[in-house]
Amino acid sequence: MAAKRSLLLLVVLVVVVEAAAGGGAVEFAYNGFGTAGLSLDGMATVTPAGLLLLTNDTNMSKGHAFHREPVRFRRAGAGGMVPSFSTTFVFAIVSEFLDLSTSGFALLVSPTTDLATAMPQQYLGMFNGTSNGDARNHVFAVELDTVRNPEFADINNNHVGVDVNSLNSSAAAPAGYFDDATAAFRDLSLISRDPMQLWLDYDAATTEVTVAVAPARQPRPQAPLISTKVNLSTVITDTAYVGFSSASSIVLVKHYVVGWSFRLGGGAAQPLDYDTLPKLPRIGPRPRSKALTVALPIATTAAVLAAVAIGFVLLRRRRRYAELREDWEVEFGPHRFAYKDLYDATDGFETKHLLGAGGFGRVYKGVLPGSRTEVAVKKVSHESRQGMKEFVAEVVSIGRLRHRNLVRLLGYCRRKGELLLVYDCMPNGSLDKHLHVHDDEDTPVLDWARRLHVIRGVAAGLLYMHEDWEKVVIHRDIKASNVLLDGEMNGRLGDFGLARLYDHGSDPQTTHVVGTMGYLSPELVRTGKATTLSDVFAFGAFLLEVACGRRPIEEENADAAGDRFVLADWVLGHWRKGSITGAVDARLGSEYEPTEAGLVLRLGLACLHPSPAVRPSMRQVTQYLDGSAPLPELPATYVTCDMFAGMEKYQALFDSWSVRRSTGDMSIATMSDISLSCGR
Ligand SMILES: *[C@@H]1O[C@H](CO)[C@@H](O)[C@H](O)[C@H]1NC(C)=O
Ligand SMILES: *[C@@H]1O[C@H](CO)[C@@H](O)[C@H](O)[C@H]1NC(C)=O
Repeated sequence: MAAKRSLLLLVVLVVVVEAAAGGGAVEFAYNGFGTAGLSLDGMATVTPAGLLLLTNDTNMSKGHAFHREPVRFRRAGAGGMVPSFSTTFVFAIVSEFLDLSTSGFALLVSPTTDLATAMPQQYLGMFNGTSNGDARNHVFAVELDTVRNPEFADINNNHVGVDVNSLNSSAAAPAGYFDDATAAFRDLSLISRDPMQLWLDYDAATTEVTVAVAPARQPRPQAPLISTKVNLSTVITDTAYVGFSSASSIVLVKHYVVGWSFRLGGGAAQPLDYDTLPKLPRIGPRPRSKALTVALPIATTAAVLAAVAIGFVLLRRRRRYAELREDWEVEFGPHRFAYKDLYDATDGFETKHLLGAGGFGRVYKGVLPGSRTEVAVKKVSHESRQGMKEFVAEVVSIGRLRHRNLVRLLGYCRRKGELLLVYDCMPNGSLDKHLHVHDDEDTPVLDWARRLHVIRGVAAGLLYMHEDWEKVVIHRDIKASNVLLDGEMNGRLGDFGLARLYDHGSDPQTTHVVGTMGYLSPELVRTGKATTLSDVFAFGAFLLEVACGRRPIEEENADAAGDRFVLADWVLGHWRKGSITGAVDARLGSEYEPTEAGLVLRLGLACLHPSPAVRPSMRQVTQYLDGSAPLPELPATYVTCDMFAGMEKYQALFDSWSVRRSTGDMSIATMSDISLSCGR
């Protein structure tokens, strides 16, 4: 009797404890989502087969899927703690390219299903530039991130992270697991297209969050991948929604969730039933067209005629879309665009899609078939095959640079005598166009705040290239016309020493050459070797150009003696007189911040120092620009370099450049190529 009573007491106690802990256990398991009734938005859908597809081949978009009922994590007003919970899901990330990652996705607990203000791409549809890091988000998430974003201090482009109100993960680890038998670490590639399983557990007593991943159908690894303490009682709201958030960027990707179970209130989430999980669609090359093989065997005259006609059409088609491919290109395959796609994207390179034409070729605006992505396609003529492999290798490696202040190079295509480069389309064109406005155009003068924003952006992009990426990348051709403005007027560096994009409006024969000359550091002209410090020099010229609204060297504004206008000398003159801001673009009137403008101008001069060793690094430049370090005063003895000291050499350089341009031999006629020929 006594035993029975104590048992009863125990049962009551368990119920009470559970109620106090979190208002009762909540549990659900979805082995496929056919009847799940999830609350979906954006791109998210449930496929007929029952797969939860979070993204659907739309660029720059978001998708969310939540368990429809909010989960009562705490009794309102009870002031209780968030109880233990456990969840697991099987997923697969199917990217268009196997070696090119794109935005990932996350499992999240959120106070709301309304994530309308969240951004796609690196924000994974959870946060935006202002909300990221804000404790008022009350969002807890585990991200499967396939892009390394330096701005969020990501560890690599293939990691799992624990996110508390922020994409700057509070703990993260490269995707993989510890083998139970050997304890060896096994790498997993999130974008491998293979199904994988993730387990997430929260222990309320210790506030320990543990995460593990493994290939699907393997048991949960005993050692967790991540184990970190986060007191979720201070993060998760009394009621909250659990679900998934995903985002796309430029590269097409599909995020699938195949099955998911969740349990709140202690104990492990129900295991998934692999045998009833829906199957992922088969992924592989599309079956080849059978048109010809079907048409030929039919032996009637009409059929033969039809076959000949089809053959003729195919032949013409083949010629029209013919490409040049060589064995060494296999490894660059994913970055190759089909000529037919580029042809279709630009309506056969219609003149009405021409964005600009100049030095290195023509640039067309296009919309890629299928993905409907807007791109800029640059056609560069090239005859020689020499250096092509290196060139393409460079294109591909540059295509992997990812930063919001760099124009993305998406890939390339080769044809006989022609190279095509595919870039992100920048809706607001080049900075040059906004800076050097002709009187007859009605583009408004770019205000100071925007100019400073662009300057800071370009500095950030360049710093990334110089110091933060896996390799040092030298731009070689920094100038206002190579800075493009995206839809939000962020400055993005484009045209990585390859050629020019949007250069209508300037005279390609003279202005360009002379203009570019003002950006070349003296040691680059002398030795022909581009370095990060020659980039800094060009950046200095760029700073003055943006602040003053004038080009570094202006032929048309020669003085009475016939000497050309040299912007750096002119700014230096103002500095000597103690009124450096007198050099600020007159069109701004008094509409600028004198301390900021003074800083930009002095920094410009510091970057233009004739001796490379004295110039600041891009890291220092960004510190001066954001005020985290004071810019040292210029020495009173400061002189700019004599832009025309190497004049003869310049002249020879540009002559050879012009010749090559007119003969169309553009194999690798980049600035690096030119400096190479002048170095010997
Ligand atoms: C993807 O989702 C968006 C948003 O729901 C929708 O407008 C679009 O038509 C979908 N695209 C495809 C290819 O299903
Ligand atoms: C977690 O936070 C809650 C609410 O602030 C607090 O009551 C509790 O003591 C914390 N738990 C631990 C283990 O720190």
